[in-house]
Amino acid sequence: MTERVVLAYSGGLDTSVAIGWIAEQTGAEVVAVAADVGQGGEDLEEVRKRAIACGAVESEVLDLRDEFADRYCLPALRAGALYMERYPLVSALSRPVIVEALVAAARRYGADTVAHGCTGKGNDQVRFEVGIGALAPDLDVLAPVRDSGMTRDESIAFAERNGLPIDVSGRSPYSIDQNLWGRAVETGFLEDPWNAPIEELYSYSADPTIARDPDEVLIRFDAGVPTAIDGRPVTVRQAIEELNTRAGAQGVGRLDMVEDRLVGIKSREVYEAPGALALLAAHRELEDLTVERDLRRFKRGVEQRWAELVYDGLWFSPLKTALDAFIDSAQEHVSGEVRLRLHAGSAVPTGRRSDSTLYDYGLATYDTGDTFDQSLAKGFVQLWGLPSRIAATRDLKAGSVGSAP
Ligand code: ARG
Repeated sequence: MTERVVLAYSGGLDTSVAIGWIAEQTGAEVVAVAADVGQGGEDLEEVRKRAIACGAVESEVLDLRDEFADRYCLPALRAGALYMERYPLVSALSRPVIVEALVAAARRYGADTVAHGCTGKGNDQVRFEVGIGALAPDLDVLAPVRDSGMTRDESIAFAERNGLPIDVSGRSPYSIDQNLWGRAVETGFLEDPWNAPIEELYSYSADPTIARDPDEVLIRFDAGVPTAIDGRPVTVRQAIEELNTRAGAQGVGRLDMVEDRLVGIKSREVYEAPGALALLAAHRELEDLTVERDLRRFKRGVEQRWAELVYDGLWFSPLKTALDAFIDSAQEHVSGEVRLRLHAGSAVPTGRRSDSTLYDYGLATYDTGDTFDQSLAKGFVQLWGLPSRIAATRDLKAGSVGSAP
């Protein structure tokens, strides 16, 4: 018998209705847990009180912002993580930090069930449930929005019937999820992928077509961790926040894409992630300077796999843990500074330097001071092309050189 349920509470219509629905269906006490992952907006104390007004026996707001920055955004930065080469995993990263907090709350409150407000069509249900299963296989999961079969109108009727303090009049036509790492906007007129995004969708970034003076920012990394901006020491969270503001003011970080969801649906998504994309650009630039060629090439493949695992809800999985160890090792020499120019929607590196640089002026220069022994190149080129030469000689004998099979 379920006696206590910990619910991931957002303060919106769906999770507010879920409190009453769970109590009605299971007779359990509902403990509401809201997470601050840097989403901003509404005062979270209001959110906390609303859960009580909706029938929760306990309600708490957890400040997970530093935790989220240090243990979720930072690994994604060091992993160069971009799903489908573009999406910096904004929502995918926040679900596991919330899952950890829910599981801890379930233990604290002696709950045997955790509930979330995701629908059955998205990735987030997978991330919650697979995450909970990986951390606490003994806990049950409830998904009232998905499993109650309530439509939006029925949810509104439920809220009205029960006098829930939810304002449903000014509801946005979009489904929005936002945190420190960025912001995701979907549904509404965006469901037609031919419809161009409009300015009102955005709140982390200014219109990049409006002319303004460029901003130049100097970012320092130590072993792949951003540690200073313009010479001032920063925490990871401060680095993200400052770049959200400064890159956002230059219109950096907007994305409009069609995305492959884990459940098999293609969906149209609009994102803005100014801080994340500026940091990712700077970090990659420093890797290009400091990471040995083969390691750098191999890491690009690992990055893609890492992003897919996290997107697919496998944050807590053996492969992800093993790839983290690889990435950690690959970051050893990623220390130094990158100068980024933020302007007109782009974050462009214009300078990079490092005490662990692999760039050797003497080897690279075409001016005086050249230390590269060009006489070595001749034999190298011959041996490098030897296998192709042998194969071509064979094919020539058979009369098929240069022709397609
Ligand atoms: N499609 C993105 C993802 O799966 C964003 C999901 C946003 N979630 C939401 N409830 N609006 O990571």
